[in-house]
Amino acid sequence: MALTESMVLDALRVVEDPDLHRDIVSLGFVQDVVIDGGKVSFTVQLTTPACPVKDILEAEARAAVEGIAGVTEVDLTMTAQVRERPNPADTLPNVRQIIAVASGKGGVGKSTATVNLAVALAEQGARVGLMDADVYGPSIPMMTGTNGQYPLTQDSKIIPIERFGIKMMSLGFLLQDGQAPMWRGPMVAGTVKQLLTDVKWGQLDYLLVDLPPGTGDAPMTLAQQVPLTGVVIVTTPHNVAANIAGSCAALFRRLNTPVLGVIENMAAMVLPNGEMMRVFAGKGGDELAAELGVPYLGSVPLDPEVSYSSDVGEPIMKAHPEGSAAEAFRFIAGEVARQASVVAISRDQSLVSSEDSGSLNFEPTPS
Ligand SMILES: Nc1ncnc2c1ncn2[C@@H]1O[C@H](COP(=O)(O)OP(=O)(O)OP(=O)(O)O)[C@@H](O)[C@H]1O
Ligand SMILES: [Mg+2]
Repeated sequence: MALTESMVLDALRVVEDPDLHRDIVSLGFVQDVVIDGGKVSFTVQLTTPACPVKDILEAEARAAVEGIAGVTEVDLTMTAQVRERPNPADTLPNVRQIIAVASGKGGVGKSTATVNLAVALAEQGARVGLMDADVYGPSIPMMTGTNGQYPLTQDSKIIPIERFGIKMMSLGFLLQDGQAPMWRGPMVAGTVKQLLTDVKWGQLDYLLVDLPPGTGDAPMTLAQQVPLTGVVIVTTPHNVAANIAGSCAALFRRLNTPVLGVIENMAAMVLPNGEMMRVFAGKGGDELAAELGVPYLGSVPLDPEVSYSSDVGEPIMKAHPEGSAAEAFRFIAGEVARQASVVAISRDQSLVSSEDSGSLNFEPTPS
């Protein structure tokens, strides 16, 4: 019996996306099926190039088609197209996903995480932008070795500074050395809005936004200006940090921004003998995530190299790409991309029930 496209599609229905709980055929991931005698060629298009289960899906899809009687050769191409966040018809229509990085307490590692997650996503082939919304203490220029660079403008828009394949914008690029603005509330909102909308971002898969700590004007403006895909919360295992992180998550939910999950930073240190030592005694990121009912995205170890490399403008993802901190950031980037896909697809196509979506909370919680 001759092979047909429907035989191929039927066989592929056994391959299920573990996050969306649907098979890859009904999700529309299978494309360009071509049958030539016993040879079957097809493409599987995932929702992010940073998909952590890419290899598993590839192996399952290949095995499913190889199992069809009469198939002698399988030519499978894996691609990815990042889905648009809900309501992209806003001021940034060419940016598919916007993900903010927030914390309750200061100094927990938001900026470090944002830079390294941006590098990790770019290394997976995503088009990535990084906006420094910390107008009080912009740290992205220092952490990326771009201090002192001054952006050009074109068609009345600012051209972002590029480094590590990432397009970056920060108030730090626009200020003279050591100049510190004296902020009043409405100015913060106006500046954040400009850094977002007056910049020529071009086509981006992910725009990561590094926020100042807390629940002030910057996060409020951001969430009100554009529909964010969601926010990730960074915390350290101090109870103070975890408790304020909880109120930060509550604020975003009130602003109708999904909380994509919790990243734990500086919880444990790798000892010279390879053992992990917990450094602080407080509430861990996993515990906080469980309390908030959101995914736990992973833990980044306390590593002096993280701090050192960041101070000299080279993120740990570049300085020590094989180390445990870089490995953690790579893993977390995959988890963030995965949760962002779940939000985009579930809101976009109502394919996933809220129960399935890893307890992402789309409803504003009562204040
Ligand atoms: N995993 C880590 N190991 C060691 N040092 C770290 C780690 N993560 C962050 N740091 C260091 O901790 C300090 C604070 O980090 P960072 O500036 O990223 O925090 P932040 O939350 O953005 O702070 P702020 O609230 O001021 O914006 C920096 O010196 C940074 O290099
Ligand atoms: Mg910061």
